[in-house]
Amino acid sequence: MLKNKNIILGVCGSIAAYKSAILVRLLVKAGANVKVILTPDGANFITPLTLATLSKNPVYTRYFEEETGVWSNHVELGLWADLIIIAPISANTLAKLASGICDNLLTAVYLSAKCDVYVAPAMDLDMWKHESTQTNISKISSFGNTVISPGSGELASGLYGEGRMAEPEEIISFLDESIKAFQPLYGKRVMVTAGPTYEAIDPVRFIGNHSSGKMGFALADELANLGAEVTLVAGPTAQESSKDLKRVDVVSAEEMLNACMSISPAMDIIVMCAAVADYRPKMVASQKIKKRESDLNLELEKTVDILATLGNNKKDNQILVGFALETNDEENYAKGKLEKKNLDLVVLNSLNDKGAGFKSDTNKITIFNKALARSVYEMKSKTAVAKDICAAILKIST
Ligand code: CTP
Repeated sequence: MLKNKNIILGVCGSIAAYKSAILVRLLVKAGANVKVILTPDGANFITPLTLATLSKNPVYTRYFEEETGVWSNHVELGLWADLIIIAPISANTLAKLASGICDNLLTAVYLSAKCDVYVAPAMDLDMWKHESTQTNISKISSFGNTVISPGSGELASGLYGEGRMAEPEEIISFLDESIKAFQPLYGKRVMVTAGPTYEAIDPVRFIGNHSSGKMGFALADELANLGAEVTLVAGPTAQESSKDLKRVDVVSAEEMLNACMSISPAMDIIVMCAAVADYRPKMVASQKIKKRESDLNLELEKTVDILATLGNNKKDNQILVGFALETNDEENYAKGKLEKKNLDLVVLNSLNDKGAGFKSDTNKITIFNKALARSVYEMKSKTAVAKDICAAILKIST
């Protein structure tokens, strides 16, 4: 579950910091990219050299390096992370997280991050039991952070009781289990198509459409967030995915068809969001067509309907989702496409809804399922729309 995840490991001042070295090793072994942030006190317990060597990345200890003036951008680090784990977290840092104090790089990164945060406390049993510590634990949990409870046993003070940081192996299994719970599409292979296609007229001209690819990219990102292994087949678009996706770039409808035909048999879920050209020039001129006195007629031929082809070849348990972009009689056309193309879901967007469709950052959709039951959604950002579409997919996936 941790493969290719960007993980920030925060290490605070505690004798349990020696366990961080093992934790880094296990995270790296699991395929994660690990960057370590040591608090100033943490650096008294374990050296940056150990953690940098094990993580294969420089260790961050402060906002900037005095000798070089190199600044560690806390916002960039926070946004880089798919997950933050602070292990060990001391009573002091716990209190800072609970009250928003931000006096070192780790606490600044914590406040800048948008990802899930896990903390594994380590402290003496009376510190752990103290009402203020327990209040801070409840407080940071109420913010959505996850606490990996300490175990019982002999403590560094010689006392016996609760307060030992969870063992690195336990932390790894805890992370695995909770990521699994938040990633219902883990293990599923998903193909998404996005963007327009361009059909060449001659070496300098083409027939295209206004699709920006935004909706398809938002869907691909959201499916990846849910744990799916996503292959994105993208037409010509300036969009970039924020996720580590497998991307296949194509230009024409024929190239998209070929890519989809070779990728789709291994897929569990297919979401066809691309605005594929229905017609292409019958002849593509090998030289630039020169201007003449008379008008120019282009003869167009039909392209293959990729979605309908995939619908005809659909395997048992494969989920096929199509889109319908309409300007009139929207619901009937969308339901017609659902049936004709053998879809499990069809997502309708109407160009009559202001703020829906090409290029905009928002969309307004209606989804029909196989039973033709209709779900109508409000106008939302394309990221929020992607979440709604994924929720509808999750409802019908096993
Ligand atoms: N589609 C496709 N291959 C094509 C045309 C469309 O895979 N050659 C897919 C689109 O990705 C979308 C769905 O079919 O998921 C519907 O596309 P749309 O353009 O709304 O409808 P068409 O089937 O092309 O019909 P029409 O243009 O007549 O509305």
